[in-house]
Amino acid sequence: MSAGHPELVAAIASEVTASGPIPFVRFMELALYHPQFGYYMRSSKPAAERIGRNGDFYTSSDVHPILGQALAKQAEQMDRLLGQPSLFTIIEMGPGKGLLARHILSASQRDYPSLFHRLHYVLIEPSPAMREAQRHNLAAWLDQPQRITWVDALAHLPPHSLTGLFLSNELVDSFPVHRIQMTVQGIEELWVDYRDGRFVECLKPLSSDRLASHLRPISSDWPEGYRTEVNLQAVDWITHVAQRLNRGFVLTIDYGHTAQDLYCTDRKRGTFLCYRQHKVHEDPFQYVGEQDMTTHVDFSSLATAGEGQGLQTTGFTNQMSFLMGLGIEQMLVGFDQDSPELAAAIQLLRPNGMGTTFKVLIQHKAVPHPALDGLRYQPFFRSALTTQSAA
Ligand SMILES: C[S@@+](CC[C@H](N)C(=O)[O-])C[C@H]1O[C@@H](n2cnc3c(N)ncnc32)[C@H](O)[C@@H]1O
Repeated sequence: MSAGHPELVAAIASEVTASGPIPFVRFMELALYHPQFGYYMRSSKPAAERIGRNGDFYTSSDVHPILGQALAKQAEQMDRLLGQPSLFTIIEMGPGKGLLARHILSASQRDYPSLFHRLHYVLIEPSPAMREAQRHNLAAWLDQPQRITWVDALAHLPPHSLTGLFLSNELVDSFPVHRIQMTVQGIEELWVDYRDGRFVECLKPLSSDRLASHLRPISSDWPEGYRTEVNLQAVDWITHVAQRLNRGFVLTIDYGHTAQDLYCTDRKRGTFLCYRQHKVHEDPFQYVGEQDMTTHVDFSSLATAGEGQGLQTTGFTNQMSFLMGLGIEQMLVGFDQDSPELAAAIQLLRPNGMGTTFKVLIQHKAVPHPALDGLRYQPFFRSALTTQSAA
């Protein structure tokens, strides 16, 4: 078993040795996003090679283009609800290999020429190596002026600059999280120490007052030994997204739950997982920088924080219901019943798999009462999304 990428391990170890134990959230930030050696940032083995069947994990866009086709259809309806502005912008953050962007652009070009004519696609991607992979997958449109642009960070977009759709797929689950445990002393946080040449976890008081106040409304009935995670970066993120939206929608796809469901007493071990070569385990201290780390998203905190920033909650559903609302059955007509393509598309719908573990949250600003096809079937009551929420 490897401890991980040697230079990354040395960089994290030296920070711990200099300052003492660091909160787990800092360890995860360095492991995934250290500017030179982080899992998602290294150019010697870019994340593009880590996503997909030959990598560590795959995402919906690796499975089948149907999600991108459905999103194009949803974007076309959003465009009409916005009165077909002179420019409809889709901003995708954390676009991975650029496959979802490719599927959305191809479907728009083929099926929705009026939208395509006014469509500008922006990718938020800090890693030059990932941008290369995206350029390769989006080559068909690179010679069209103003069709596709890249920015390094959300912060580089001016406030109120977006009219259109802000989109992400499996972005928020990759944000660094605080890890929490209920002990006899009360709620404590996991910190990371470096002893005898190894990273080890230790329990210490919470690292900030903000974390303590976030935990107060959700933690009252947790039993001793209960472990979970808190994604404060997600709350900051939706706040920044809301500030950049002038008119339009925010559509977030990820695995996750309402706060009520995520923080229920039955879920005693939290949702933190590591992925390497399609194997799943819970040990963040092996293969540091050579494995992905994720947690399930608290969609309630996104809805509540968004509402505090002028984003109304349009609705919340799962991927299966989202795709069915957008007419996936008609999109699949004509596929050979035994074809691997149909089997792949159905994978995105499976009630015991991607169809229900993935959720879709849509929020809007300055669009009166939008009724969206993707939200036609919503198996979650809206009140459940914001009950027991802690943004
Ligand atoms: C699990 S991958 C998903 C990739 C892609 N959306 C897909 O579905 O295949 C998460 C991606 O989010 C990116 N990411 C995380 N934080 C980011 C940030 N602050 N800005 C831009 N991208 C970010 C990571 O670099 C990584 O490429």
